[in-house]
Amino acid sequence: MPDSATPLTIGDLPAQHAKDPKTPAQARARFFNPGNAFNVILPPVPDTAFSREPEKALAADTPTSFIPCDASDVMECAFPATSPLVLAGYARIRPNDSWETTPRASGAVHYVIRGSGTSQIGEETVEWREGDLFISPGGVRHSHYAEEDSVLWIVTNEPQFRHEHAQPPALGDAPTPVVHCTAAEIKRQIDYLYEIGKNAEIPGTALIISSDVQEASRNALPTLTVAMNTLDPGITQRPHRHNSVAVSLVVKGENCYSTVDGKRKDWSPFATTITPPVSVHSHTNAGNERCFFLIVQDGGFYYHARAMGFEFVDA
Ligand SMILES: [Fe+2]
Repeated sequence: MPDSATPLTIGDLPAQHAKDPKTPAQARARFFNPGNAFNVILPPVPDTAFSREPEKALAADTPTSFIPCDASDVMECAFPATSPLVLAGYARIRPNDSWETTPRASGAVHYVIRGSGTSQIGEETVEWREGDLFISPGGVRHSHYAEEDSVLWIVTNEPQFRHEHAQPPALGDAPTPVVHCTAAEIKRQIDYLYEIGKNAEIPGTALIISSDVQEASRNALPTLTVAMNTLDPGITQRPHRHNSVAVSLVVKGENCYSTVDGKRKDWSPFATTITPPVSVHSHTNAGNERCFFLIVQDGGFYYHARAMGFEFVDA
């Protein structure tokens, strides 16, 4: 509080309460003003990469477990979160073992980094192997069984649900069915894009993954977009920015790096990288082979809000 010599400003006021409330509901009200409400500063989304988590997930002695990419401490979130609305992590599942979860989310995106197995998701079964991607509805039991030693990259919008104290949709009301994209189909689709675009000298392209239910939106979930991005050797993307955050998995990328607000961030195998919202960024392939990185963004959220804010930012 200011001393008596300093004039009181509205910014100095603590939370105001109702005078003589007649009910508990009246007593619960709090009142603020532009001086003490609009200056609440949250820590920014960190420009970081999680490389220890995949190392642990892939290490020989790691038991069946889920290893989250958790930046909740630096973002001051009260629940595990990779970005404010998205949680990514690695499920290590030992051979002939299983790991069960019920995502508190509208859905989950899975990419098979290594191994093979079967996932029972409600009434449906997905038989997966390395390089496959599958999407599933939240709120139903997922039992992931590994035939071979397996690592899955799993991304959900659990932080979005926890932020709102929300629960997953009721059975049958999920915004996504179970959707399975095999590694061979993903490769076929990307090859086709390069074939069609070969005369356009495209610097790289992305396969955007959606579903029959989400076909009109082009999203994987109402708030999440999923894209397998590619870049050919020697190529740097055009610098750009958008209001969505990108949570990306390095699928294949020797000598690749990202440039975020002028700072270089080198890729490491199967790292999860965060590209903060609004940051000016581009990705560079300085290697000798086409690189692949799987990007999940909360882009559906911003598309729906008509606030994606995409623009190229050329130096
Ligand atoms: Fe981007």
